[in-house]
Amino acid sequence: PRIVVLASGEGSNFEAIVEAVERGAIAARVVALISNRPRAGALARAAHHGIPTRIVDHTGYDGREAFDAALAAAIDAQRPDLVVLAGFMRILTPEFVDRYLGRMLNIHPSLLPRYPGLDTHARALADGAAEHGASIHFVTRELDGGPVVLQGRIAVLADDTPARLAARVQAVEHRLYPEAIAWFVSGRLRLDGDRATLDGNPL
Ligand code: GRF
Repeated sequence: PRIVVLASGEGSNFEAIVEAVERGAIAARVVALISNRPRAGALARAAHHGIPTRIVDHTGYDGREAFDAALAAAIDAQRPDLVVLAGFMRILTPEFVDRYLGRMLNIHPSLLPRYPGLDTHARALADGAAEHGASIHFVTRELDGGPVVLQGRIAVLADDTPARLAARVQAVEHRLYPEAIAWFVSGRLRLDGDRATLDGNPL
């Protein structure tokens, strides 16, 4: 199976996925890394692993639809079985989401449905949340709202800062994403209607 990863930032999740493929934990190939930012750290990580990169710079397009069309063309050229959003910081149009429904995953740094949107760590701390974590979900038209596939939980510590909490959440993310992706490429994980199923059982 062919995986395309989309990233806008550092790409630590992307690299965790690539390393899982390299050690045989994911039975698939990452065929390309696509970024909307020419200076994304993920691009250097892809080069280090010999993975082709494509840049679809959103500042070069007049409107969300034009950008999404260019992005879809870049993705489809790779003939992916799975599209992985790994810190891809763009809101995607409904038409774009429909195109990849059931074969696009996202990672969100909270225990969804808690804290959809941005600044999740600061919000969890401000609320005095006792636990926090990360969620892998299928991408649907609802922002950060698709069926949850897998979650990782951590305790929030009394002296936590957003940065320290984020670091512990990222460690969870780097274990979580390869596991969910391995399930998908082996045919165990599917989107059935509005539910995610593993081996046919609703998650
Ligand atoms: C991750 O924390 C992820 O939860 C969020 O953006 C961050 C991406 O980090 N969507 P990286 O680019 O994978 O290092």
